Amino acid sequence: MEKKRLGSSNHFISGIGLGCWQFARSRGAVGKFWGEMDDELVGAIIAESLKNGVNWFDTAEVYGNGTSEQRLSAALREQHVKAQDIMIATKWNPVLRLASSIERTFGEREKNLAPYPVALLQVHNPTSLSSIPAQMKYMAALVQQHKVELIGVSNFSKQRMRKAQQTLEKEGLSLTSNQMRYNLLDRSIEFNGVLQYARDHRITIIAYSPLAQGLLTGRYHEQQGLIQKRPGFRKYMPAFRESSLKKSLPLIQSLREIAQEHHVTPAQIALRWVVQFNGDSVVAIPGASSARQASQNAAAMDFQLTSAELNLLDELSRSFTKSA
Ligand SMILES: NC(=O)c1ccc[n+]([C@@H]2O[C@H](COP(=O)([O-])OP(=O)(O)OC[C@H]3O[C@@H](n4cnc5c(N)ncnc54)[C@H](OP(=O)(O)O)[C@@H]3O)[C@@H](O)[C@H]2O)c1
Repeated sequence: MEKKRLGSSNHFISGIGLGCWQFARSRGAVGKFWGEMDDELVGAIIAESLKNGVNWFDTAEVYGNGTSEQRLSAALREQHVKAQDIMIATKWNPVLRLASSIERTFGEREKNLAPYPVALLQVHNPTSLSSIPAQMKYMAALVQQHKVELIGVSNFSKQRMRKAQQTLEKEGLSLTSNQMRYNLLDRSIEFNGVLQYARDHRITIIAYSPLAQGLLTGRYHEQQGLIQKRPGFRKYMPAFRESSLKKSLPLIQSLREIAQEHHVTPAQIALRWVVQFNGDSVVAIPGASSARQASQNAAAMDFQLTSAELNLLDELSRSFTKSA
């Protein structure tokens, strides 16, 4: 099974983890992006992921105001999963908050996820009332108190990563990861310095929305109007408009052709590209709406794309990245 070192830590994680935003039960503004999901389905998605080699999970405070964290922990407990066999990453919500809320709200993260510890605590995005150095000092204190093992950020530019890293270095620590949107339709991190900075400092890029929120599966190109029938806010995203679907169709057609060669699905090819193209620097956290999707996504760790296939997808997808 393909494992990658997380940052410069001693954690070896599966190249594909599971994104748990979908478990938010449609609660809160952020949770409403996806539809409802019952507990049985949450359990089945987690079971399939584990069975197929996934050993870590990404969740966040804002995914239903703790609902996703609670449901993740409940499903793992029900399946008698031992804490030492998996790793959990969660995120502090910085919006309209001071850095002191990292400490104040950490007890809720612990309670929601118990008995599983928070291995990686991430700052969800750079929108905050607090400065990056202040945030990093509170994060470092949690590490020094052995409450959290590793510190990560999300949606941070190269300059912000540098600021975080420099603050942590003064505490004798380092930044472990930056969680960024990365997929065949959005390769900004390759051109804005984020990926290079991460490589140079042994910071792992955790690729979110690796399937462009379902777009790269080809399902919404195949069945016109399907997106309108799906629950949640996703249908309002510009990328799902008819005109955008038309634009991304040539890429989808190539994914389909390569998928046939490998006897897999276009989604698996799109995911495989994300975790293979940049070697050990990038891991991915696809979300799933069904147990079958979860097992297929995990199985994208089980095959390799040829260099010709990687290059073809590289070429075709470049037109979608403005700065390429
Ligand atoms: N840090 C951040 O700011 C941030 C932002 C976004 C996401 N995230 C994290 O990243 C995770 C993944 O990102 P995401 O959920 O935005 O997008 P994604 O993983 O690209 O897409 C997930 C959706 O694609 C469809 N899908 C997944 N696997 C499939 C398969 N094998 N075949 C067909 N369809 C499939 C499902 O939707 P349908 O079946 O309904 O089409 C699923 O809900 C989230 O769960 C969350 O943990 C973080």
